[in-house]
Amino acid sequence: MKGIILAGGTGSRLWPITLSVSKQLLPVYDKPMIYYPLSVLMLAGIREILVITTPDDRPAFASLLGNGRRFGISIEYAEQATPAGIAEACLIGADFTAGEPFALILGDNLFFGHGLPEHLDAARQQVETRGGAVIFAHRVADPERYGVVTFDETGRVLTILEKPDRPPSSFAVTGLYFYDGEAAALAERLTPSARGELEITDLNRAYRDREALHVRQLGRGFAWLDTGTPDSLLEAGEFVATLERRQGIRISSPEEIAWRQRWISDDELLATARALGKGGYAQYLAALPDQL
Ligand code: DAU
Repeated sequence: MKGIILAGGTGSRLWPITLSVSKQLLPVYDKPMIYYPLSVLMLAGIREILVITTPDDRPAFASLLGNGRRFGISIEYAEQATPAGIAEACLIGADFTAGEPFALILGDNLFFGHGLPEHLDAARQQVETRGGAVIFAHRVADPERYGVVTFDETGRVLTILEKPDRPPSSFAVTGLYFYDGEAAALAERLTPSARGELEITDLNRAYRDREALHVRQLGRGFAWLDTGTPDSLLEAGEFVATLERRQGIRISSPEEIAWRQRWISDDELLATARALGKGGYAQYLAALPDQL
C-alpha cells in the first residue's frame, strides 16, 4: 500500500508565522509537524509515500525529508498549485497510486494512542481485501468544526456532513483516510463546494452511497490533535512534551519507527544521529540500539 501526505494550504490562521514557512514544517515540541503524520503512515507499514506541498514550500520539505532513505522508505513530491480541496490530493496523486489502494493523511493531524498500529492494520486489511474506504472518528466537544459522521454498531456509515451547523453526533472525522483503487475515479466526478473546494467529505459520501464507507472509532484513550491555530499548536506541543518528559522516550519519531521496523540498520540509525549533531534528538536516536 502507498501513502499520501497532504501538506499544502495557506496556514492563514497562523499568519504571520506561516507567511514564510509552511505550517507543516513548524515545530510540535521537538519535531517538525510533518513527522507526526509521516510516523502514522510508517506505523501502517507504508514505505512508498508522496508528499504534496505548495510549489513554494516544496524545496523546504525536500531538504528535510529527502528521498526518504534515512527513514528506510521512498518519498516523492508533488505540488498543489492552490488549496483547491483535500480530495484534490487523490487527483494529484493518481499517477503515484496507479489504481492501487492508499492511505491519505493531512500534514497537520496528530494521532497518538495505544492500539494505533492495530487500527491501522485493520483499516489497511479492509481496503486491501474488501475494497471501499475506511475513515476514523473521534469524539470531540466542537464537532461543528469538522466533518461529522453517524454510524451503526458494525461501523457502517449512515451520514457524513462537512461542518454542519447542527451536528447529528459528536464524532468528528479525522484527517486519515484509507481508500481502495477507485478513489481517483470517484474524485474526478466531484464538483467544488460552496467554499470552492473538492471536499473530502463529498468523496467519502460517494463511498457511503455505494455502501462502501466504514468508520473505526478511536476510543477515549486516543489523542487526536490538530494544529491550525496558535492555541492548538501550543497545546499539541505541550501534549507531546508532557508524554516525552514523563516517559523519557520520544513519540512519533520516524527514524525510531524505521529502526524498530528493521527498515534501517543500527549503523544507518547511528549515521543519522551523527548527522543530526549533538542535540537531544540525536542523542536519543544514538542511544536506541543500546536499550533493552
Ligand atoms: O482535520 C480534519 C478535518 O479536515 C475533517 O474533519 C474535515 O472533514 C476536512 O474537511 C478537514 O477540515 P478543514 O476544512 O478544517 O481542513 P483545512 O482546510 O484546515 O485543511 C486541512 C489541512 O489540509 C491543512 O493543513 C491544509 C491542508 N490542505 C487543505 C486544503 C483544503 C491542503 O494541503 N490543500 C487543500 O486544498
